Amino acid sequence: GFLRPYEPFYCFLALFDDPWPTRAAVVNGIHPGPLIVAQKGDLFDVTVTNKLTDPSITLDTSIHWHGIFQRGTTWADGPEGVSQCPIPPKGHSFRYKFSTHGQAGSFWYHSHFGNQYCDGVRGPIVVYDKNDPHRGLYNVDNEDTVITLTDWFREPMVTPGTPPASTLINGKGRFIKGPLVDLAVVNVRKGARYRFRLISLSCDANFIFSIDKHKLIVIEADGESTVPTKSVDAVQIFAGQRYSLILHANQEISNYWIRANPNLDPLKDVFKYGVNSAILRYAGAKAVEPPFSKPPTLELLRESDLHPLINPRAPGLPVINGSDFDKTFEVDFQGGRFLMNNESWKAPSAPILLQILSGKNASELMPQGSIVHLKRNQVVQLKITSISDVATPLIGIGQRLPFDFQSTNCTIQHPFHLHGHAFSVIKSADSDTFNFKDPVRRDVVSIGGLNQFAVIRFVTDNPGPWIFHCHIEPHLSVGLAVVFVEDFDNILRSNPIPQSWKDLCEVYEKSKALP
Ligand code: C2O
Repeated sequence: GFLRPYEPFYCFLALFDDPWPTRAAVVNGIHPGPLIVAQKGDLFDVTVTNKLTDPSITLDTSIHWHGIFQRGTTWADGPEGVSQCPIPPKGHSFRYKFSTHGQAGSFWYHSHFGNQYCDGVRGPIVVYDKNDPHRGLYNVDNEDTVITLTDWFREPMVTPGTPPASTLINGKGRFIKGPLVDLAVVNVRKGARYRFRLISLSCDANFIFSIDKHKLIVIEADGESTVPTKSVDAVQIFAGQRYSLILHANQEISNYWIRANPNLDPLKDVFKYGVNSAILRYAGAKAVEPPFSKPPTLELLRESDLHPLINPRAPGLPVINGSDFDKTFEVDFQGGRFLMNNESWKAPSAPILLQILSGKNASELMPQGSIVHLKRNQVVQLKITSISDVATPLIGIGQRLPFDFQSTNCTIQHPFHLHGHAFSVIKSADSDTFNFKDPVRRDVVSIGGLNQFAVIRFVTDNPGPWIFHCHIEPHLSVGLAVVFVEDFDNILRSNPIPQSWKDLCEVYEKSKALP
């Protein structure tokens, strides 16, 4: 009797009106987990100890460092069934050690076990660069300018189908008819320029992010510096994506709404009461909330207007079939599972890296059908398109929507994430043109709605098994993934595997053998 009946909705997500206690899994006692900061080139050395005890949340865990390429350390990448054995509960731990090498920007970490990150195991990472090419564009970039977006669930996500209860900015949020609890406040000083690091830790929702009366300039997408865009009112940000946004605090000293409106039931008046909002507060302004108001009409940044600052060209020839490896993935939904080209990913009991270490040859790797082999130094081109109009599992797996899909903005837009790489988005879902000259480079891309598509390219220069999956977590858990086994022959040579990694698999085996 914990769940209320869930009515059919007009869109994908619906927020509950009233407060509801839930159980959560958290990192170091807080949600989102603590911000991890580093400098470009730093070595990460993070010990994860699993103290989960509540069986209503999955008990095993493993952590992924989203956006970090893990060159030479594919064993530290995290996904269940791919790169490591899970960390069992009861205080077992695992030490992740990896370098950021040349990467800098905004990243995050999250559980890559089942749907566990929806329950709270997620937090932001910022890797600073002393020689940031955009340094002249802002005065302030610190822990207070990191803005996280999350959806928050009413029930632990062991069973996909659990609806979200609300959304949070920096861990705070309200229910539509709930008490007016404190919202997150971002403090600014008049005249200064800020680098806001907008990090979506979302499990499903995508958000339209804006700040009343202020324009934003994008300078980073998913850990890749971009050419500063023209000023825009708003950006749409999908699960797993990040943007750095320059805000010039040039308005009257006052309080302004920061809004992150999710793709939810459009009939509910979500703009009331500070729902889905935080507060931008100028120094000298009263500590009050701005009056409730609808957001103004917003001009949204188009993804195709983003261009990389460094090495802008897409790899390969500047023609549609100018790559070594060219593949189309069709996303479908059948029998309660998502399929990519008719195969539905299920995490194998022995992680793929363990299978490789145990001497399996390339053709024997499991799960067959969900593995795609890529040769070394190929230009890979992938087209990903959705051919299914089923609703997200969040409104019940396989339910069809009671409205015309194309005519609403409620269509499912799967955000695909590739591990081990950033890729060039040579055709984004919001544009009809192919761009080989200066396409944005990032690590999560929306493929758009039904029958729309995105095309991406990357070079196979990072040996390892890398999962490519929809970052709507309940979609991943019902199969929406494939694994690229990149440069099979060099995986072990390029990625020395520590003894502690092998030990973890033994510990895990034993923990499963216990009654
Ligand atoms: Cu952010 Cu496969 O993950």
